Amino acid sequence: MLRDLDEVRTELARWATADIVRVPTGFRFFDDRTQGGMAPGQLMFALARTGVGKTWLLTAIACNNPKVPTVFFSLEMHGRYILERLASVYTDTPTKSIEATLRAKGKSHAIDQTVAGLPLLMIEDEPDLGLEDMSEVLEDYAKKYGQPCRLVLLDYLELVRSFGATQMAVVQELARGLKNFAREHDVAVICLHQVKRGEGNNGHKPLDMTDGKFGSEESADYVLGMYKPNLNPTLSQELRESLDNDIRLQFLKTRTGGGIHPDGVQHHWNGETGRISQLDWKQPSTPSSSF
Ligand SMILES: Nc1ncnc2c1ncn2[C@@H]1O[C@H](COP(=O)(O)OP(=O)(O)O)[C@@H](O)[C@H]1O
Ligand SMILES: [Mg+2]
Repeated sequence: MLRDLDEVRTELARWATADIVRVPTGFRFFDDRTQGGMAPGQLMFALARTGVGKTWLLTAIACNNPKVPTVFFSLEMHGRYILERLASVYTDTPTKSIEATLRAKGKSHAIDQTVAGLPLLMIEDEPDLGLEDMSEVLEDYAKKYGQPCRLVLLDYLELVRSFGATQMAVVQELARGLKNFAREHDVAVICLHQVKRGEGNNGHKPLDMTDGKFGSEESADYVLGMYKPNLNPTLSQELRESLDNDIRLQFLKTRTGGGIHPDGVQHHWNGETGRISQLDWKQPSTPSSSF
């Protein structure tokens, strides 16, 4: 779009005075270093080996943003499992209890509280979507809510439909396409991204920028990494259990280049509810706590 500075000034003022200038992740190691979170038009990749907790991280970010219009693209999992995970994190209730209550009563207070508490969140779980389909979804969102979506959560990059000669070409094309998607729709995009199967790393060691499957990090404004020290296969069972609550979040790429927290910042993992939180996080008091 060719515009003179006067027009761009209007646009800048509109952005700076909007309700949502930045979309926080709810995690201080990131938000504090980015003036409060991601700006619309920015793309983040979150990398981790399968099973470390990428989907839980996305779930936590959705729950940390109840007032932000959000679409959760779950290309991997059916929407009902995402809702179950959201309820588990939002109300800190183990998914096992939620399922047991649902089975016994056909409803669950944890689910109901989550549905009521996250009114601006939609889940799109069609498995075979391309970027153009995702654009249509955002248009549908804006029609339904009368306001644009501001945060896109995507689980995960490699499942977005795309065509290319090699897997590397596909992923790089997708990453570039996703950055354009973020800019076109003026949304913050947080996209999960798989990691190469590395020798000697079972998900227990810090990742670095070369770990993303087939590259493509250059398209992202930010890259996070995740690992869990207790996935180290050489640890004793006892030690592994004692480290179960330890999950590390790394800030690997910032807008200005280098990583800020290459070894990661320790966070708390609740193995029953899947909730990832800051070490000093406290459950806000809720009117009812009987789930
Ligand atoms: N419904 C569930 N309730 C509690 N924990 C779960 C549930 N499903 C998976 N997990 C645990 O969550 C972890 C995997 O997290 P997940 O976010 O699915 O990883 P990723 O997306 O990186 O593959 C594993 O430790 C697994 O045992
Ligand atoms: Mg996952």
